[in-house]
Amino acid sequence: MNQSKYQQFKKQMAKVADLSNASAVLAWDQETYMPKKGGDFRAQQMATLQTMAHEVFVSEQTGQLIQEALKEDLTELERINLLLAQKDYVKKKKYPAAFVEEMANATASGFNFWHEARTKNDFSLFSPLLEKIVKLKREEAKILGYEAHPYDALMDEYESGLTVAKIDEIFDDVKKDLFPFLKQVLAKSKPRVDFIHRHFDKKKQWDFSEKMVRKMGYDFEGGRADFAPHPFCTTFGPGDVRITIRASENYYNEMFFAAIHEAGHGLYEQGLPMKEHYGLPMGSALSMAFHESQSRLWENNIFRSKAFWMGSFPMLQKDFPESLGDVSTEEFYKGVNLVEPSFIRVEADELTYHAHIYIRYLIEKSLIEGSIEVKDVPKIWNEKYEEYLGIRPANDAEGCLQDVHWSFGGIGYFPTYSLGSFYAAQLMAVMKKSIPTLEEEIHSGNFEKALKWLRENIHVHGRKFNSEEILTMVSGSGLKFSYFMDYARKKYGEIYGI
Ligand code: CO
Repeated sequence: MNQSKYQQFKKQMAKVADLSNASAVLAWDQETYMPKKGGDFRAQQMATLQTMAHEVFVSEQTGQLIQEALKEDLTELERINLLLAQKDYVKKKKYPAAFVEEMANATASGFNFWHEARTKNDFSLFSPLLEKIVKLKREEAKILGYEAHPYDALMDEYESGLTVAKIDEIFDDVKKDLFPFLKQVLAKSKPRVDFIHRHFDKKKQWDFSEKMVRKMGYDFEGGRADFAPHPFCTTFGPGDVRITIRASENYYNEMFFAAIHEAGHGLYEQGLPMKEHYGLPMGSALSMAFHESQSRLWENNIFRSKAFWMGSFPMLQKDFPESLGDVSTEEFYKGVNLVEPSFIRVEADELTYHAHIYIRYLIEKSLIEGSIEVKDVPKIWNEKYEEYLGIRPANDAEGCLQDVHWSFGGIGYFPTYSLGSFYAAQLMAVMKKSIPTLEEEIHSGNFEKALKWLRENIHVHGRKFNSEEILTMVSGSGLKFSYFMDYARKKYGEIYGI
């Protein structure tokens, strides 16, 4: 039987996906159930599979199959798969083998160096490695090529087409509109939050969270949730999209909002046309930034909303009569939306969050352009926290050592977190218009229509459109920061009486 070149290309891409999905299973296991002594060889096993996936993808065979298949009679989606795969191929081919190896070696030990430095609160244990990584990332920007700024080349990895010029424009708005509003909020008296830190049984926390995750539409027959030190979402293929959760028995927010966040990522993955387009661009998420828009829309715009808690707090209160018996719905809603400058990004509220990102962006951009050096990072970090949040970290563990990203070479990644929130606000505004009963639906814990809207307008398209295109399709324009600002003013203006 003669297979078309497109069929052969599809097989080749499936092989790449099989290898990287197998590596993802090992990574998930490492974070969940692997015994401690498995660690040394596990890193090697994952590296082997990842290298094999890379080699199959950048092989001459893949390049040839793409070229030949493009000459065949194709459907629109087949052509899109080929053209996007070609773009990825050209990009991946730019990396010299020696560079790939050097980067792999540097980042393989990254986690351990970073973790030790953070545990011992000693930046000097991490800085030699970080210097190496920054040097390699500067080199990577050169290898990939850029027009205006080397950092553009690195951000492109996480959001195609994102540039310093674009992100500067967005953060100009953040500085002009959000930061002054934040100041107004912080000048007001704080809502009551004592109950957030009372005792909450872990099992009962999960029971309530799971109930909500199911209501969102997350398919537990095509996924599962397990405890892990860090919450994340990972995909092994169509029909297996998993999330991890963690809980603090003395801090209510830790499990619930992270579980919703990860389930939001999971719903996006479960909604992609992955079965028909396994290992292909049409079966993949459009970008990291857009992925984050999905998780944040669920976490913040839906599950931190007044409508949701007005409807569902009584249920939670029944689960925790001792800890929440003396708390009103209004108090709970305000408490879980407390705005307060803090040191740790992952615990930040919706407003101060973007100051955390802006600081990281400034530092990364300066490191890559070479206007600052790694040794300057702790000093600049602390100065910027003072400048933008009015607080100064007492040590580097709660300062520049808090995030894992630099240890794996994830420079250019942070801006996607802010973009995710801003995209989410824009999507939510449009969704509200097209589902006039959305508030009532959220109030009654019914998310079917919201999910259907996301599925039809976003998930189904895979990588067919870029972020700018998809936003324009659904809202009539590319990213506008004003959507986020309107959302923030309305919500926090009401909570804080501004
Ligand atoms: Co996320």
